[in-house]
Amino acid sequence: MFNLPKFVGIDVGNRAIKIVQLEKCKNKLRVKNLWSIPNRSENRACSKEAGCENLIAVFDLLKDHLKKQKITIGIPNDRALYKKIELPKMGPGELKQAIFWEKKELMEELDGEYVVDYEVIKAKTNSYEILMAAASKGDVMGYLYSVRESGLFLEAIDIYPLSISRVFKSSFPEHNLVVVDIGAARTEITLFDCGKVDFTYSVPTGGDDMTKLIAKSFSLNESEAESIKKNPGNYQNEVKECLTPLIHHLTLQIIRCIKYFQQRKGEEVKTAVFTGGGGKLLGLKDYFFNETRIEVFLAHELDFPNIEIDPNLKSGFDKMEFSCALGYALRGVF
Ligand SMILES: Nc1ncnc2c1ncn2[C@@H]1O[C@H](COP(=O)(O)OP(=O)(O)OP(=O)(O)O)[C@@H](O)[C@H]1O
Ligand SMILES: [Mg+2]
Repeated sequence: MFNLPKFVGIDVGNRAIKIVQLEKCKNKLRVKNLWSIPNRSENRACSKEAGCENLIAVFDLLKDHLKKQKITIGIPNDRALYKKIELPKMGPGELKQAIFWEKKELMEELDGEYVVDYEVIKAKTNSYEILMAAASKGDVMGYLYSVRESGLFLEAIDIYPLSISRVFKSSFPEHNLVVVDIGAARTEITLFDCGKVDFTYSVPTGGDDMTKLIAKSFSLNESEAESIKKNPGNYQNEVKECLTPLIHHLTLQIIRCIKYFQQRKGEEVKTAVFTGGGGKLLGLKDYFFNETRIEVFLAHELDFPNIEIDPNLKSGFDKMEFSCALGYALRGVF
């Protein structure tokens, strides 16, 4: 059997570390394997050493599957800083020079130990739109150390908005789009201008806050509240009522981001995609549509036309939970 090239994307979530393994065969990409492993360091306030130990333990578990593959790992969105710049059209050599000076200036502004990288996200007729991202050296070195310590190969350290753009831009190349990723501890709101990242905003509220609210309102422990949240059964109305203030708060944050986009661009945002485990909350899609009249899709309702799923994959491909890891894996492909 031929050994087809494989690409691995790793999304270090607060609840779980999600890993997607893609295989490339001619022009086709196939999801070969998926893993979701509980994040034992859970909140990111835990020490860097504990975070690294946790990642090394995960890599040790999967070492045989991940050997000799191109691994891309993502910096969580709340750990990265972004700056968008526009530079006039110039030759490739000059552009490299100009970006070098921009990076230097950003590092000086940040006044700390940061690693800065960039991506040209749009080449316009007379200019380039460039997204610069900075991450603390400590975080970057932590990932590097964990991967190398496990004897694996790190292809890249990537950023969240580029990952999510790789996944959803082919579904909405002509639309202004907002992607709302509701995780365990955070919600990422990312705006796209016809497939290109415009900006991203991190709200420190997520699915675990919903669980806590249910637990408090109905005097339940968190595991009972978690299961009622996922399967409310006869308590659907009560759960909905209890979560309304939180969902309303999140909706207002999303509307604020959309308004900010519309004010600058003078164009409407007509489509929203919800992803992340928290995006599965029953009734969320309807609530958002009723408040905004913006067309809403859940990630699992979308087709990823160039990606097929290995028929042997027993778990199925949960697009809501794995969209971000998929985007990191795609970084290795292009
Ligand atoms: N069916 C469901 N209904 C409602 N919430 C759900 C459902 N399934 C999972 N969740 C919630 O999704 C959250 C986990 O989502 P996800 O795996 O995207 O988080 P994460 O990526 O680990 O966290 P973060 O993005 O904050 O780092 C949990 O709060 C979980 O309770
Ligand atoms: Mg997440």
